[in-house]
Amino acid sequence: MDPYKKLLLANEAWVQERLKIRHDFFARQAQQQAPAFMWIGCSDSRVPAEEITGTEPGELFVHRNIANMVVHTDFNMLSVLQYAVEVLKVKHVIVCGHYRCGGVRHAMGNRDLGLINKWLRHIKDVYRLYQRELESIADLDARWDRLVEINVAEQVQNLAQTSIIQRSWRNEGGPSLHGWVYDLNSGYIKDVALMPPDAKIDDIYRFEFDDTTSVDT
Ligand code: CO
Repeated sequence: MDPYKKLLLANEAWVQERLKIRHDFFARQAQQQAPAFMWIGCSDSRVPAEEITGTEPGELFVHRNIANMVVHTDFNMLSVLQYAVEVLKVKHVIVCGHYRCGGVRHAMGNRDLGLINKWLRHIKDVYRLYQRELESIADLDARWDRLVEINVAEQVQNLAQTSIIQRSWRNEGGPSLHGWVYDLNSGYIKDVALMPPDAKIDDIYRFEFDDTTSVDT
């Protein structure tokens, strides 16, 4: 059997399984979504958001990209963020990286990867900010692990620097921003960063809102 057909067969089995537990599962799902969490994760196939957090369909609003980045000119991520915050009013935005992240590893090196260079460049900028700390770690794998943690914390900062988050903090008192790292070796998630809605933001990134201003990014 062509391997892709396995996915469609598994889907049929999954539907039957769900209906056995709850006959109106899909009817209820189709009505609306009210997730409390937005998830920004790595595209890595080994880090399935719902599975590692034990969440069900309807609980996570998900955006994934290479190395779970929050890039302030990325309209894709920003659109997901704006919808999550302003329409769905999620209570938590979680950036979840993972140890052994290939994107982070390549950003530490010098190989030309074409278009991906542009994306990984943002991680190189994080590396440069923390160069002294990182290069004090002699073991390259340990340095890689540390950059994964620092990168997640920096992406949480990047979220807090958007006017989407700052306006919501002012008007709604939320969401909280979280930075997590998933360990492929153990399956456990490590909590590495938290920014509650009253967190301090560097002055240069702080917006003052005029109430007549329309919603933008
Ligand atoms: Co990754």
